[in-house]
Amino acid sequence: MNANSMPSRKAPAHFEDQILEQGDLISKKLHLLSVQRFPPNAKKTLRSFSLSEVANYVGVSQSTLKKLHLEGKGPSPQTSSSGRRSYSAEQMLELRQYLDAHGRSDSRMYVPHRRVGEKLQVVAVVNFKGGSGKTTTAGHLAQHLALTGHRVLAIDLDPQASLSSLHGFQPELDQISSIYDAIRYDGERKPLSEIIQQTNFPGLDVVPANLDLQEYEYDTPLAMADKSSNEGKTFFTRISRSLAEVDDRYDVVVIDCPPQLGYLTLTALTAATSVLITIHPQMLDVMSMGQFLLMLGGILKPIRSAGAEVNLSWYRYLITRYEPTDVPQAQMVGFMSTMFHEFMLKHQMVKSTAISDAGITKQTLYEVERSSMNRGTYDRALESMDAVNAEIAGLIHQAWGR
Ligand SMILES: Nc1ncnc2c1ncn2[C@@H]1O[C@H](COP(=O)(O)OP(=O)(O)OP(=O)(O)O)[C@@H](O)[C@H]1O
Ligand SMILES: [Mg+2]
Repeated sequence: MNANSMPSRKAPAHFEDQILEQGDLISKKLHLLSVQRFPPNAKKTLRSFSLSEVANYVGVSQSTLKKLHLEGKGPSPQTSSSGRRSYSAEQMLELRQYLDAHGRSDSRMYVPHRRVGEKLQVVAVVNFKGGSGKTTTAGHLAQHLALTGHRVLAIDLDPQASLSSLHGFQPELDQISSIYDAIRYDGERKPLSEIIQQTNFPGLDVVPANLDLQEYEYDTPLAMADKSSNEGKTFFTRISRSLAEVDDRYDVVVIDCPPQLGYLTLTALTAATSVLITIHPQMLDVMSMGQFLLMLGGILKPIRSAGAEVNLSWYRYLITRYEPTDVPQAQMVGFMSTMFHEFMLKHQMVKSTAISDAGITKQTLYEVERSSMNRGTYDRALESMDAVNAEIAGLIHQAWGR
C-alpha cells in the first residue's frame, strides 16, 4: 500500500472517524502543495500593463500616451527590446495624477476618488448557490476598480477564504488575522485597520477570511439571546461599524459573501449600498436563486423592524460563466431579462478557459501575462470582464451623482 493513501480494507470505522482522517490527509497534502507553490509570507508581484491597456484603464488615447513619453512628461514607461512600451500599475496612478495636474480645461478627473458628499460605496456579491462566480466577480471587480484609480477594500467574508488566497493570503499558514477578529463578540475584537493587508495591486487592500469566520454563525444567536447586552440584537451593524473606522481611506468596498444565507451574508447586506447577485444561466441555478430571493426577503422583513434595513442605491443580477452559443443558456438569459428588465446588468461574464486557467495558479485575468495564453481566448475573456466591470463602475459613479 502506498504510504500516502488511506487504508482501504480496514474494519469499517465510524463515518466521523473516517472523514476526520480523510479531511486531515487532504489538508496536510494541500498545505504541502501550497507551501511549495507559494511559501508563507511570500508577496505576490504584478506584471506591467501594455500601452493599449493603460489607455483603456486611464481613459486617454494611445497617441496621447506616446506624445507624453516623447516629450518626457509623466512617468516614463519601460520599453522592451522590440520597442513595446509598458507601465507598472503604480505608474498608471502617477499618470492620472499628472493628467489631473496638467490636464486640459475639461472638468474630467483622472483620479476618480470620491469627493465631499460622496458616500463610501459597499458592493456585496451574493448568492447562496455555490460556484455561481461570486469570488471571481468580486476579485476581478476589486482589481478593475483599483486599476481604474479607485481606492478599494475587498473583504473576504467566506470561511473558505478563496478571495484571500487569490490575493496570496492564507491566514491559516501566514498567521494573520481575519475579518472574524473585527466582528467577533468577545474581548478579542480588533480594529479593522489592524487586519487590513496590502495587495500586489496599488490601491487595493484586502481583509482576509479564515475558517474561524464560521464561528460567527454560532456566536450570533448566542449573543442575541444574551439579555445583558445589545451586541447580538444589533449584529447587522457589525460590518458597517468596522467600516466606519476606515471610511475615509477608501472609495469602494467589495464584499465576497459565502454561499449560504446566514448571519454573515445578512450582516454584509445591511452594510451594503449595492448588491450584485451572480447567476449562472441554467435551470437548476435559476430555481435555486428563486429560493434564495424568497428566503432572503422572508428574513429581511422581520429584522427590518429591529433596524436591520437594507438601503441600496442599486442592485443587479450578473450572468456568469455564460456560453452564448448554448441555446438553453441563451433562452434562460432571455427569460430572466423579460422578468427583471433593468435589474439585469447589460453585460454578461462569459465562460472562458482563460478565467479558470488563471484561477488554477491563483491569478486573475488582470494578473496573468497575455503571452502565457491563447491570445484570442484571453482577449475575448478580458473584453467581457472589462465590460462587466466598467458597467458596475458606472453604477458606482452614478450613485455618487456623477
Ligand atoms: N467566467 C468564467 N469562466 C470560466 N470559469 C469560471 C468563470 N467564472 C468562474 N469560473 C470558475 O468557476 C469556479 C467557481 O467560481 P467562483 O469560485 O468564483 O464561484 P463562487 O460563487 O465564489 O463559489 P463559492 O460559492 O464556492 O464561493 C472557479 O473554479 C472559477 O475559476
Ligand atoms: Mg466564493
